Amino acid sequence: MTQGEKGNEGEHLALWGGRFKAGPSPELARLSKSTQFDWRLADDDIAGSRAHARALGRAGLLSADELKRMEEALNQLQRMVDSGEFTPVAGDEDEATALERGLLEIAGDELGGKLRAGRSRNDQIATLIRMWLRRNARYVARLVLGVVNALIGQAEKAGEAVMPGRTHMQHAQPILLAHQLMAHVWPLLRDVERLADWDKRMDESPYGAGALAGSTLGLDPEAVAHELGFSRVNSNSIDGTASRDGVAEFSFIAAMIGVNLSRLAEEIVIWNTQEFAFVRLDDAYSTGSSIMPQKKNPDIAELTRGKAGRLIGDMTGFMATLKGLPTAYARDLQEDKEAVFDQVDTLEVVLPAFAGMVRTMVFDKDRLKAQAPTGFALATDIAEWLVKQGVPFRHAHELSGACVKLAEGRGVELWDLADDDFVTIFKGFVSPELAPQVRKVLSVEGSVDQRNEKGGTAPERVREQIAKAKRIAAKARLFADSSSDGPAYVASGSLK
Ligand code: ARG
Repeated sequence: MTQGEKGNEGEHLALWGGRFKAGPSPELARLSKSTQFDWRLADDDIAGSRAHARALGRAGLLSADELKRMEEALNQLQRMVDSGEFTPVAGDEDEATALERGLLEIAGDELGGKLRAGRSRNDQIATLIRMWLRRNARYVARLVLGVVNALIGQAEKAGEAVMPGRTHMQHAQPILLAHQLMAHVWPLLRDVERLADWDKRMDESPYGAGALAGSTLGLDPEAVAHELGFSRVNSNSIDGTASRDGVAEFSFIAAMIGVNLSRLAEEIVIWNTQEFAFVRLDDAYSTGSSIMPQKKNPDIAELTRGKAGRLIGDMTGFMATLKGLPTAYARDLQEDKEAVFDQVDTLEVVLPAFAGMVRTMVFDKDRLKAQAPTGFALATDIAEWLVKQGVPFRHAHELSGACVKLAEGRGVELWDLADDDFVTIFKGFVSPELAPQVRKVLSVEGSVDQRNEKGGTAPERVREQIAKAKRIAAKARLFADSSSDGPAYVASGSLK
């Protein structure tokens, strides 16, 4: 028995009985049924019904008294839905069928039966998924900003601590820990920006498109749109009922959030190994092993990494559903909901746990510092120092490489080479008096300080970067905290 169902009682109500001799076969009913997942659209459905009832009233299709009684009945239905007194029964095909049954029970057939005029479940469902997603996009944005804040907090705490920067997972150049952490902030801020931008395209109501061609009843779709928090109506009733690119776009953003988190998750898993030992996870945000008492496992990072696969799967499954659909409503479109509901449900558990793990993890700054220059990570600094002495980079690269070769052969680091070694290697390119001065750049601090162009890892630049990220996060929060019941939140230009 699925959630939100009362069992098999409840008489069968179909919205399409007239031309049929018999009700649906049990096999069809089982396949067709969606209340087990679409009941969460009930509040939005009732909001749509209220707006629609008023449109019927304005068009003279409900008298003032009927409208009043209809609104009361809808309010009563909402209360019963809120309290759990009214839920779908086994015979209800979808949330719309269930709510129509509820309305008929409360308002009676005569009045309740009038609400369906001029609308179809096709335009209803296309509207409801937008309302639900627009609200939940803001919710997801708030949760993403929770991770962003945790990362910025760690970057601030890291100060000028250095660490080995890697490419291809090999030691490359020393960087600030804060720089590496902030590298994960920007994609997440862009994800929130994506949601805010997506919201502008979703700010169009299909309500009133009917099954596909619009209605003959002189309803006012614009007024309905405004009541439901949309600033405009779809320009094409077929597009309004048939398109789901907006759902797919949301689904991509949700998957991208998962992927962005997953890449940081992978780093945390590695940093948390005994070999790396860069970071220690808080007890409250790690788990133990049932057999090995010594174990402390990074399950949050692993689950996040794992669930990224699921988030991608939701998106690809739905994209496959859309491909090849004729352009008007087809029942396949019902598949949109479970995909994005699952994504929001997944992100809802992943993001707060991830934020908590990030907020409470503790870096071993001494170990990071000791590792920062190893693996000849200062070789580029030698090459760039040579360039500053007028040596063409092609030669500078070779000379620095010769230093690495010599040091590697002796089993020492670059700064262990003697002055004479530099004099010999640089011969013909740098005068013997000058050669030993290369030592100046053979320190991690020197290396990091000198990378002070915009976007570089120099402490000054990283401080600016953090300040800028905070400003953008504050702007992103305006979207996250905005109401989806009003017109679309419009960022002033891009979030930048
Ligand atoms: N439950 C359907 C959906 O979620 C809406 C119903 C449209 N059904 C129909 N036979 N026109 O897409």
